[in-house]
Amino acid sequence: MATLLVTGGAGYIGSHTAVALLQAGHEVVSLDNYANSSPRALERVQRIAARPLTAVEGDVRDAALLARLFSQHAFDGVVHFAALKAVGESVARPLAYYENNVGGTLSLLHAMQAAGVRRLVFSSSATVYGAPDALPITEQAPIRVTNPYGATKAMVEQVLRDLCAAEPEWSVVSLRYFNPIGAHPSGEIGEDPHDIPNNLFPFICQVAAGRRERLSVWGNDWPTADGTGVRDYLHVVDLAAGHLRAFEYARRHTGFEAINLGTGRGVSVLQLVHAFEAATGQRIPYRFAARRPGDIAACWADPSAAERLLGWRAQLSIEQACADGWRWQRQNPNGYRD
Ligand code: UD1
Repeated sequence: MATLLVTGGAGYIGSHTAVALLQAGHEVVSLDNYANSSPRALERVQRIAARPLTAVEGDVRDAALLARLFSQHAFDGVVHFAALKAVGESVARPLAYYENNVGGTLSLLHAMQAAGVRRLVFSSSATVYGAPDALPITEQAPIRVTNPYGATKAMVEQVLRDLCAAEPEWSVVSLRYFNPIGAHPSGEIGEDPHDIPNNLFPFICQVAAGRRERLSVWGNDWPTADGTGVRDYLHVVDLAAGHLRAFEYARRHTGFEAINLGTGRGVSVLQLVHAFEAATGQRIPYRFAARRPGDIAACWADPSAAERLLGWRAQLSIEQACADGWRWQRQNPNGYRD
């Protein structure tokens, strides 16, 4: 069993990963500034796993706090989620994104280096591929950043690659997520967007709940089977399991590895809407609207590296993700707020 520092442990993917790590018997220390999350998520993580974790409120850019944490705990590794993640906001506030996402990671890496902790699982994104030349997308596809958020993920990957080249005892797995959706089947933890959701799945959930009148489908003239955008949606519980596997991999290997986490299956906006309706019995009114600037037609993963290297593959269907996401939404109409 290992002791892990999980930065951003109260966030959407962090909280599901904390459950997976606790259920596997590991000790978890969460470091989160709750900028876009709630400490309540961590109370529920402990309830689901029926095991305690240590919750620390603070920022990864706080070097003194990190030094203290690394001296208090003998960490076997770090899973690093803490970051800002809204594409549009990153265009408007680039400095905040570079400071939090790149600066925050540098601060963390310095603390790890000083403490001799050299095992890291990093939260990257398929956004680093931009508009792909070919589908499915393999890890060898060129990196193409199209906005500051994506640039921060690509930059951090470069830093990690260089670090592993310079210091061969490091072991880093960068997980490039496709489109995580759904929630823990308990309905206790899930995604909790504070403003109008930018992403499709939480928007659908809010339409189902009556918080939004209807979904706008951004474009029905894409070069796809039904004209709507195609993505690789994966259940967040599968994604969380991928982090556990990545940590186990990092214990057995050194060097830098970037690995896609996706299902390998493309699903259109309308297919996701219909899957949601079938899984939940809720109707999702929608209308077609103009394409969203910066969007791409289609994007799905070649997940074979994850299978080969991590022994991981997505197990859960989008129908299960819809049912679980809807349960979370229904049980928590205001997310973690009262
Ligand atoms: C977006 C981000 C990506 C980020 C990911 C996180 C952009 C351009 N990309 O990816 O960097 O890593 O979220 O999950 O913002 N759609 C609608 N109506 C809506 C919302 C979305 O039709 O109200 C469509 C989109 O046009 C797209 C699909 O649904 O075809 C998925 O959109 P979204 O959930 O925002 O994910 P991505 O665009 O893939």
